[in-house]
Amino acid sequence: MAPSSTPTHRIAVIGGDGIGPEVTAEAIRVVQAAGVQLELTDFDLGGSRYLRDGEILSDETLERLRGFDAILLGAVGTPEVPPGVIERGLLLKMRFELDLYVNQRPFVGTAPGSTVAHDFVVIRENTEGPYVGEGGVLRKGTVHEVATQGSVNTWMGAERACRYAFELAMTRRRHVTLVHKTNVLTFAGDLWQRAFHAVAAEFPQVATAYNHVDAACIYFVQDPQRYDVIVTDNLFGDILTDLGGAVSGGIGLASSANLNPARTGPSMFEPVHGSAPDIVGTGKANPTAAVLSAALMVDFLGEGAAAERIRAACAADPGTGTTRQIGGRLAAAVAG
Ligand code: IPM
Ligand code: MN
Repeated sequence: MAPSSTPTHRIAVIGGDGIGPEVTAEAIRVVQAAGVQLELTDFDLGGSRYLRDGEILSDETLERLRGFDAILLGAVGTPEVPPGVIERGLLLKMRFELDLYVNQRPFVGTAPGSTVAHDFVVIRENTEGPYVGEGGVLRKGTVHEVATQGSVNTWMGAERACRYAFELAMTRRRHVTLVHKTNVLTFAGDLWQRAFHAVAAEFPQVATAYNHVDAACIYFVQDPQRYDVIVTDNLFGDILTDLGGAVSGGIGLASSANLNPARTGPSMFEPVHGSAPDIVGTGKANPTAAVLSAALMVDFLGEGAAAERIRAACAADPGTGTTRQIGGRLAAAVAG
């Protein structure tokens, strides 16, 4: 397609901390090589920025982000900042405030030394559960200290995550598994189960299954072929998707899309991995997860053919060499 006939997408780029900027640069290079037109605006956010002037994500910056077509994020977090500050103040704030209620994490591949091929997608509810910050602490620092941290589950939240999962399954192998812990979390599990079945009734062509989350951990390793689309809550989804990455080729390949499917604002795309400060600047970071996250962005922006070319290039790449070398090879492959 001639460049003049392709739209230009306005992308907010948050390289972030550690290896974030390195892998994001390669992701952008590959997307542009695939012929996708981007207008890029850099946002200096993350742990380093916070240490410099105290900004995590101001309301003003958040308002600016709302004006973009998508947000591409590398990784945030630095060892000098206590846990939770950047996670809550930046990442979770974006997920909640931009209503990125679906976290879509695809797993395609085979772990080194394994013969088990994986091809499934986890739809993680992304705005509720224990992540909302409900609860508190009493009598801190005494032997009588009490800490509670509740899981918040709304019908709307569970229903819309399930709906997205079923719609996605219609484009795939038409199978959705609910993963929860209904045998113990009886209140939340009951709400999820009823929401799941209410949505399932609208999709008679889609087969359904249910697994407890502990059993799902076994199946992820021993029988992943049973899965097509999995829908689950925020915390189970967080844990399961690290496992999914580990069993399907490593966290270096795990991509994610934080989606606002209603498109009332930009969606955000980031690799599952963190900022890996121990290898920053060494060229050891595999940019493939960032490239595949950018492919999810390209797909969501309506350029499915380019996204498919990027995915095919990643699947064919040996994944060896430096960050720049892998990015260079992928860019050459998608340019045709
Ligand atoms: C992820 C991360 C985040 C999460 C952290 C950094 C807050 O682990 O995206 O999976 O728990 O959601
Ligand atoms: Mn995680």
